[in-house]
Formats: sequence, structure tokens, C-alpha cells
Amino acid sequence: MESIKLGLLGLGVVGGGTWNVLQRNAEEISRRAGRQLEVVQIAVRDLAKARARVGHDVVITDDAFAVVNNPEIDIVVELIGGVTLARQLVLQAIDQGKHVVTANKALLAQHGTEIFEAASAKGVMVAFEAAVGGGIPIIKAIREGLTANRIEWLAGIINGTTNYILSEMRSRGLTFDQALAQAQQLGYAEADPAADVLGHDAAQKLTLLASMAFGIPVQYSRAYIEGITDVQDQDIQIAERLGFRLKLLGITRRRADGIELRVHPTLIPSQSLLANVEDAMNAVLVNGDAVGQTLYYGKGAGEEPTASAVVADLVDVTRLHTADPGHRVPHLAFQPHSMADIPVLAIEQVRCGYYLRMTVSDQSGVLAQIAGELAKFDISIGSMIQEPADQGTATLIFLTHVAMERDINEAIGAIETMAIMRSKVTRLRVETF
Ligand code: NDP
Ligand code: HSE
Repeated sequence: MESIKLGLLGLGVVGGGTWNVLQRNAEEISRRAGRQLEVVQIAVRDLAKARARVGHDVVITDDAFAVVNNPEIDIVVELIGGVTLARQLVLQAIDQGKHVVTANKALLAQHGTEIFEAASAKGVMVAFEAAVGGGIPIIKAIREGLTANRIEWLAGIINGTTNYILSEMRSRGLTFDQALAQAQQLGYAEADPAADVLGHDAAQKLTLLASMAFGIPVQYSRAYIEGITDVQDQDIQIAERLGFRLKLLGITRRRADGIELRVHPTLIPSQSLLANVEDAMNAVLVNGDAVGQTLYYGKGAGEEPTASAVVADLVDVTRLHTADPGHRVPHLAFQPHSMADIPVLAIEQVRCGYYLRMTVSDQSGVLAQIAGELAKFDISIGSMIQEPADQGTATLIFLTHVAMERDINEAIGAIETMAIMRSKVTRLRVETF
């Protein structure tokens, strides 16, 4: 059978890895796909660098539109990143009747609805396994493997850069900046690492997962996002002594009144599986009503782990290339006409446990005052410790039972006005799953 023709947009970390895997495993891949996968054109900015990497058998261009408009190409592989140009290229490829494989979560989180609608109208596929969890086949698992389940919630470490930073800060005492520089060197971080450390990258991935888990539209703008830039080293250390570990988690949960959709630093029990996902590794814990909890673990970033997912999509698309579009797996797991408009809850409506750290004047009655203020808002204290502090002051740490974020905010507001306070209240969310 004639080979399927690929056009690569980008030959950077992921594009380069994809090229390597396609060359090295060509025979195995074609045995699986049923035909050869042949890269016929590549778009980059630096032609000489790309030529040195791939040799002279492939056409290289610095005009990405030449690839998406090339009539010979069946599948466009978008690995340029960014949103504006990537959106134009993907929509143009779809318009030209080409399938698209992309690793671009920023693009799909912001323009997924438009792109999937355009693809459905044209009868082409947009595959994006590499956009979430790098090499972990989490999209395949949610869209196909767990399809019998009513998914109740999922929680994941879905940004390798921040997991690497938090791991290095905790275990090797690196500063935030040192750990970030290493993550950049290792190719984990986005071109602009702000997307990683501010939580945007994780929220983009979570938005896609939530959409496929619950059959809701992609709603990135409704996600609550808090990154790790304000994380303080002392909280990582105190949490460790209390039996908790700090992770940047993406959490989405179905409740009777809506969907929780949130990314923030979270304390989880040190013994839990997620707490032991270290370095740049990713893991997603999914709770389905039939199967219970399942955990998906692996490398969430980097050249070949991400290429593994890109190539898996290429094989899937190749196998289904000639199938009736109506018989393909829907882009977002649910049939487009069956998507539900369940509201995404505001962060104030979220319920979880809380870690509250504050420095107070070391005098009698202080504990009672703070406990009294928490009680006014119906917040129950699970445990409390006092840590050494400067003379005349004490550092108090409270772990609360599950409470509503709005009540916690109001209680913190009231506590911070008390005369005994010597610091702001540091608040971290706690989950035990
Ligand atoms: P890189 O910056 O390493 O590579 C980008 C590539 O795109 C480069 O080859 C660059 O060319 C090319 N490029 C950029 N702009 C243009 C343009 N206007 N015309 C033609 N070519 C262009 O990015 P990554 O490989 O890290 O990321 C690519 C995508 O994969 C992003 O969406 C990212 O979010 C996603 N992703 C990345 C992961 C990772 O581990 N890095 C993991 C999962 C997803 P040149 O080489 O000449 O500069
Ligand atoms: N910058 C991302 C990360 C790459 O660190 O996880 C994978 O999407």
C-alpha cells in the first residue's frame, strides 16, 4: 500500500524526537499501522540546522503554509507551539482536508471548540495525545479504556517542569531559580516557562481532561489557576514533617451543583502514590464509578517520551484514515451533540481541607481566639502544631477538615484583622482522595 504522507511543522524538542522515533522504529511502526509513515516536508525557521539533522531526502521549508497546503500530505503534525500561528495552520490544514496531530495544549484549550467543529465538518481527525501527560496514553485511557464509567473525578501531576522544581527544592534544597534553570536545560519547560510555573500549562491540560471525562465543552477561561511562584520553602519542609508533600495538582471533580476545575499547589499524604511521583514525571489518578481508581504514570515531557504519543496518534490516524468519519472515536470522547453544559464552579464553592500557617503573638488565649474565629465559619480543626519562631511570637499551623473555600477566605480575613497577628495567613489546600 502507498505510504501515508506526513508534513512536520517544527523540528524542535518534540518535532526532533518525532523524527528520531519515526526513523528508528520505522519497520515496527509500519507493521502496526499497515502502511509506511513517510515525512515528505518539514517547516522550521532555521533551515540549515534542520538540514543537518534530517539530510537531503526531505523537503525543508521556512514557510509553514507550504506544508499545510501541500496536496501530497495526508497528515499535518503541528509541533511549532504558540497559539496564533498554530491556530491558522491547523484550521488551514483542516480546510485542505488533512488530518492533524498536535501536542499543543495551549491551542486546544483556547480554540479546541472551533478546531474540533471544523474537523468534524470536514470529516478529518485532530489527535492530541501528546498534549496531555507527554508519553502517558491518558487521552486514550479516558476516551476509550474508561468509556464504560461515569468518571467522578480526576487529579494529576500534569506539568513536568513544576514537579521537577518542587522535587528538587524538597529533596536537594535547590532554590526555585536553580531548579527552573535545570528544567529548561532538560527541555521540559515551555518556550516561556511562565506558562509552567504560573500553572497555565497544567490548566490547559486539565481543561482538556475535564472535557473528555465529563463531556463538557473545553472551558479554559473558567479554570481556577494558581502556580508555584508563591510557594515557600518552609511550607514544603513543615508539610513534610506533618506527613504531607506539596504538589502542583490539576483537580476536576463532578458535584451535584457543577464541576470543580482547578490547578493549585496541594498538600497530599506523603505515603500516597501521587506524592511519590517525583522529578519531571507525570501521573493522573482517575476515579470511575465502575473501575474505582486507576493511575497513569510516566514521562510527561521531553523529546522521545512526547514523540511516543505523537507517533501513537499518527498510527491511529493512519489506521482510521479510510474509515467512515461517523465510526471514529469522538474528539472529546462524547458525541458532539451529547456534550452537557454543566457549570464550572467558582473557586469559592470548592470544598477541601486547608493548611493555615500564621505567626502570632505568643500569649495566653491566642489559640482560643483563632479556634473561635474558625468555628464562627463552621470550620473544624483536624490538627494543630506550634513551631518555634522569633522571641515573643509563635508560628501556628492548623490542618482543617473539609471546608468551603468561601468560609476559609472569610475566616482568614477576620483572623488577619486580630491584634495578636504578626503575619499574614499562608493557606494551602489539602486533598486526601
Ligand atoms: P521547540 O521550541 O523546541 O520547537 C519549536 C519548533 O517549531 C522549532 O523547530 C522551530 O524552528 C519551529 N518553528 C517555530 N516557529 C516557526 C515558524 N513560524 N515557522 C516554521 N517553524 C517554526 O518547542 P517544543 O518542541 O518544546 O514544543 C512544541 C509543542 O509541543 C508545543 O506546543 C509544546 O507545548 C508541546 N509540548 C512540548 C513538550 C516538551 O517536552 N517540550 C511536551 C508536550 C508538549 P527552529 O528549530 O528553526 O527554531
Ligand atoms: N512544559 C511542559 C511540562 C511540557 O513541563 O510538563 C509537557 O507538556
